[in-house]
Amino acid sequence: MKRALGEPYGGELVDLLVGDEERDELLAEALRLPTIRLDSRTLSDLELLTVGGYSPLRGFMTETEYHSVVEEMVLPSGLPWSIPITLAVPEEAAAGLGVGRRVALCDAAGDPLAVMDVEDIFRRDKRREARLVYRTEDEAHPGVAALYASGEVVLGGPVRALRLPEHRDFLPYRLTPRETRAVFRERGWRTIVGFQTRNPIHRAHEYLIKVALESVDGALIHPLVGDTKEDDIPASIRMRCYEVLIDRYFVKERVLLAVMPAAMRYAGPREAIFHAIIRKNYGCTHFIVGRDHAGVGNYYGTYDAQRIFDEIDLDLLGIEPVFFEHAFWCTRTGAMATSKTSPAGPDERIVLSGTKVRELLRAGLPLPPEFTRPEVAEILREGFRNGGGRDGA
Ligand code: ADX
Repeated sequence: MKRALGEPYGGELVDLLVGDEERDELLAEALRLPTIRLDSRTLSDLELLTVGGYSPLRGFMTETEYHSVVEEMVLPSGLPWSIPITLAVPEEAAAGLGVGRRVALCDAAGDPLAVMDVEDIFRRDKRREARLVYRTEDEAHPGVAALYASGEVVLGGPVRALRLPEHRDFLPYRLTPRETRAVFRERGWRTIVGFQTRNPIHRAHEYLIKVALESVDGALIHPLVGDTKEDDIPASIRMRCYEVLIDRYFVKERVLLAVMPAAMRYAGPREAIFHAIIRKNYGCTHFIVGRDHAGVGNYYGTYDAQRIFDEIDLDLLGIEPVFFEHAFWCTRTGAMATSKTSPAGPDERIVLSGTKVRELLRAGLPLPPEFTRPEVAEILREGFRNGGGRDGA
């Protein structure tokens, strides 16, 4: 069961939006059903389910799916899947719900977005999930903290959607998998490398994208804009960095910038596979995995997120991971490089940690041009001046 490159995961792009005829009827039903107000992380998941970013999933995971994913890293069908997609609700919200009933899934304003058939109601061992998915039970880990803070009862079942959640930001960049695929077709791209990021694009990121781009037709720069941790740079600032960078330093006809609505899990290796699957659904044939992909703190080894691809069947995955070693500016060769391409020693490498970057920005100091393009550095500096990153959003 080999999965062709470029084909949606599982073979068919899921679309959970009901047609016009069905919508009025479903809305009328939704208004009579018990409601569940989704938090922003679950709203992101609902959006990705709806547009097919999580194909072949058609709803929130049942207990069987959940255990298969957490324990074995596969869906019951045998397809690799690394992150559980769950609808967790507080005890009170679950009271009165029963298997075989329906619930309306609502946004923060209480307006219905979807109707779910409750196929399963179960409890999970959060510590076990943390250990297996995040490789730590430490509540200081932001993904684990979000898991521990989530509801005790999990509802699983298929979803039918009335509409997508409403957004006010990044509208031109909110492309669905159908829409990115249409752009790729229009541009005649057959091979596309996907790039996940939750950071501004520094020189190292730019290098990875461009090196990969040398051997494919186009690149999808696909920043994640769902929930991130407090001290990550907000998406509103990052988007301005991506725009200016693409405008000045990329061949515009060779890149597409679009946003990816999922929340960050910081699950490192497991999330690298998850990120690759999502990009396959958006039409990518290749996916960049560099150093400490989706990592946080010191929870994962530098290349754990690459090694995990040895544990799954790449033919089934059907998207080609493109691995990169730690990239840096090399003062000896006067170029971006990795230890594969430069013999430079550690003191000939310009490398800044995320913490160091934040420190410089907070102090109003410039980022070195070998690390960040000056136009990007200026947007970051201004963003920090106007509220220290997060508040400056
Ligand atoms: S992530 O959480 O989305 O992975 P980030 O936006 O920093 O964080 O990274 C995006 C991608 O670039 C990831 O694949 C990551 O591994 C890679 N990456 C970031 N910095 C470097 C670097 N200096 N060298 C190699 N790969 C890198």
